[in-house]
Amino acid sequence: MRRKVIAGNWKMNMLPNEAIKFIEELSAQVKNTSNEIILCIPYTDLFYGLLTAQNTNIKIGAQNMHWEEKGAYTGEVSGQMLKSIGVEYVIIGHSERRQYFAETDETVNKKIKSALQNELKPIVCVGESLEQRETGNQEEVVKNQIKLALEGITKEDLSKIIIAYEPIWAIGTGKTATSNDANEMIKTIRNEVLSLYNEETAQKLIILYGGSVKSENSKELFSTSDIDGGLVGGASLKPDEFAKICLSV
Ligand code: PGA
Repeated sequence: MRRKVIAGNWKMNMLPNEAIKFIEELSAQVKNTSNEIILCIPYTDLFYGLLTAQNTNIKIGAQNMHWEEKGAYTGEVSGQMLKSIGVEYVIIGHSERRQYFAETDETVNKKIKSALQNELKPIVCVGESLEQRETGNQEEVVKNQIKLALEGITKEDLSKIIIAYEPIWAIGTGKTATSNDANEMIKTIRNEVLSLYNEETAQKLIILYGGSVKSENSKELFSTSDIDGGLVGGASLKPDEFAKICLSV
């Protein structure tokens, strides 16, 4: 049985004092769950978040990283830097980074390799645009993203990776993929991993759904055969709402 994972993605929201309060409130509500709970928070909140989450079952992640260890890359933060303060997870290849910050399948692959070298666990995002879905290309697009993201990654390393399927048209729009459509695409991803690796690796891989997940739809989504939890944006900004999602399965 795969574990359930619920990851919040705060995006560019929350000041340190808000982050501390949020984690205190959330941790009290989710302390008895065996689901894995991760908060991916802005760089400026990481240190406060890590301190506040100590001795709780909340894990802390970043939302991006550079693939080089150090050097003349003004404004960037490396995997080594994240690891040095105790960060455990890092989102890689979120569609907003692909769309607004020129992230490509190639940089996604480099970042995954660098994250693994620094013992960070990558949460790798894939997903099709509305146009790609409307023209029926969604499966090819997502399979190709998976193939390129995982190029040169061993099956031992794949066990440290979480995949998040996030159809771009469902992010922040209030439009959720139906649980059936999301589950079908996640099965397609699992099959692609099976063809790239083997059955055991594919069956063990944690694959999340993301895109307008909220407490009203999380149970249905997370109870399907292949969806192992969610990557939650907007609904991860309120502790009570996020706690409900964390506890819905
Ligand atoms: P949303 O965002 O839940 O606000 O749609 C999800 C994401 O972008 O990870």
